[in-house]
Amino acid sequence: MHDVVIRTEALTKVYPGDIRAVDQLDLEVHAGEIFGLLGPNGAGKTTTAGMLTTRVIPTSGRALVGGVDVVEHPTRAKRVIGVVPQTNTLDRSLDVFENLYFHGRFFGMSARTAKAEAHRLLEQFRLGDRARVPVLALSGGMAQRLMVARAIMHRPAILFLDEPTAGLDPQSRIAMWEILGELHRNGQTVLLTTHYMEEADQLCARLAIIDHGRLLAMDTPGALKASIGMDSMVTVTATGDLERLATELQSRLDDVSRAEVADGVVRLWSSRAEGMLPRVIDVAEAAGFTVTDLSATAPTLETVFIQLTGKDLRE
Ligand SMILES: Nc1ncnc2c1ncn2[C@@H]1O[C@H](COP(=O)(O)OP(=O)(O)OP(=O)(O)O)[C@@H](O)[C@H]1O
Ligand SMILES: [Mg+2]
Repeated sequence: MHDVVIRTEALTKVYPGDIRAVDQLDLEVHAGEIFGLLGPNGAGKTTTAGMLTTRVIPTSGRALVGGVDVVEHPTRAKRVIGVVPQTNTLDRSLDVFENLYFHGRFFGMSARTAKAEAHRLLEQFRLGDRARVPVLALSGGMAQRLMVARAIMHRPAILFLDEPTAGLDPQSRIAMWEILGELHRNGQTVLLTTHYMEEADQLCARLAIIDHGRLLAMDTPGALKASIGMDSMVTVTATGDLERLATELQSRLDDVSRAEVADGVVRLWSSRAEGMLPRVIDVAEAAGFTVTDLSATAPTLETVFIQLTGKDLRE
């Protein structure tokens, strides 16, 4: 049996104006895993993380972190969590070292321990030479690493990261992935939100795909990709009546189980990728269409998302 460290039961948040940001969400996160909440803009990721970290009051349902009910005992809950929000919340009146030091002091560390721990974390997060620099002088990647260092300063059982790599350059993104990998190897439980499927795929042991506040699927990346039961998704760009083209392709190609028109292209779900593309062109041309672009992709979390929602995860 897994040790469950985060549990939500029918967790729901309705904002004024009847905006159902999170709708009856049931989640279970296990000790020591990196768990991902994957969803497009407005899916409810930040609101979910907000409720789990006592920043947003649920409308109904329940949420437990480390066995503590976040609504009944917010102060106790705050002690078992570390939070890296979506926006920069570093204290600009303090330098890099002080941002860590005073956080430690706030959580009851002695001056000596806080100082030693701050320096240790600055080294670990490759910020050792920036200790006395004002936080405004940090790059986006460095500021983000400092936010993570601060969040784990008081050794929380669970670390929450809201879009930890959004807006970072590729190098800083990789540096952040390395840091999260290192924390994971040391046993840290992590819940992160992301709309990058590659990030969810590479980092997360398990993930929940959410959209419009609802849980669409929750499993390992591998199991989610296998669940489509498909070899590939073929995207066809062509001129003319795409609905008719979709019908033609589905009826004339053996291995196509599903064909649909979305975002101005025809999408085919095929159980046999081999030799598919030339056959698509043959059928399309025989039916009087001109194919202007054609591609096949193996299942990714993106494909899973498209199959679940009929739309792209990317903006
Ligand atoms: N304070 C608020 N008041 C009213 N509506 C809100 C509030 N915060 C979020 N919402 C709405 O709730 C829904 C979910 O928003 P949320 O920020 O949780 O999504 P998200 O998945 O984090 O999106 P993003 O990828 O843009 O960060 C959206 O429709 C959003 O407009
Ligand atoms: Mg968000």
